[in-house]
Amino acid sequence: MSNKVTTAIFPVAGLGTRFLPATKSVPKEIMTLVDRPLIQYAIDEARAAGITEFIFVTSRGKGALEDYFDLAPNLEEELRMKGKTDMLEVLKQTNMDSGALAYIRQHKALGLGHAVWCARRLIGDQPFAVILPDDVIAADKPCLQQMVEAYEECGGNMVAAMEVPPEKTSSYGVLDISSEEGNLLNVKNMVEKPAAGEAPSNLAVIGRYILAPSVLKNLSSMGKGAGGEIQLTDAIAADLEKGRKVFGYRFEGQRFDCGSKSGFLQATVAFGLARPELQGDLSEYIKSIAPTL
Ligand code: G1P
Repeated sequence: MSNKVTTAIFPVAGLGTRFLPATKSVPKEIMTLVDRPLIQYAIDEARAAGITEFIFVTSRGKGALEDYFDLAPNLEEELRMKGKTDMLEVLKQTNMDSGALAYIRQHKALGLGHAVWCARRLIGDQPFAVILPDDVIAADKPCLQQMVEAYEECGGNMVAAMEVPPEKTSSYGVLDISSEEGNLLNVKNMVEKPAAGEAPSNLAVIGRYILAPSVLKNLSSMGKGAGGEIQLTDAIAADLEKGRKVFGYRFEGQRFDCGSKSGFLQATVAFGLARPELQGDLSEYIKSIAPTL
């Protein structure tokens, strides 16, 4: 097995109930930060990291995601006729090479571990990445690229890690580490959504993973874990028991939890301010309301 990572799994089967009623007819991954859907940010990050094979684990009602990455001949024709070459250029980011994107359905919502396991037949004996599009990370060097570079040196399994306030640890997978060197954390155990007061640390797993195929094998026999769901965290921890290494990677960048309304709004402001064409108006508006907050 080489340490080259070219395939990524995107679990996009979730119902997005926190964003109802919007998500009644719009997949949450199509919700936009400024003018790009969440899934576009995830795909761009994957591409920057060298990913060439994309696997979406979907569910009912996610057709808009498939359409988004398809060609739109009528729209393109109309833009061409109107001479809107800049818009045609913008659309290019949604193009995928034929056969580069595969869709697998997760028929039952049995948890993140189960969603990843659904893609097992498309993964050979190479390591693969998992990207959770809810976790949007603004960084000079995209987070997965940072991880891929570190992974080429160390192998094993790797999860993105970040410190969170101790009262928030019960919302995350949490790492128990034995040592750390630079950005790399040596993980000795990990726990999914520990009860209050039982977290081994405040180092949370963030939705970027580079995993060995052995994790898929572990998932085949994985029972239900936290919340009655099959957990990816448990399957990675099972690799530790088998003597395989797990690293946490403290990435450089700012993570937004776009699975929550507040995180989504914060990301909208941050990504808006990062756009030169919006910066002036938006910062003026924010300054104008700041004194009243
Ligand atoms: C998932 C993982 C969890 C991880 C989190 C990061 O949880 O199960 O280990 O810390 O993503 O966002 P979820 O947010 O889907 O409940």
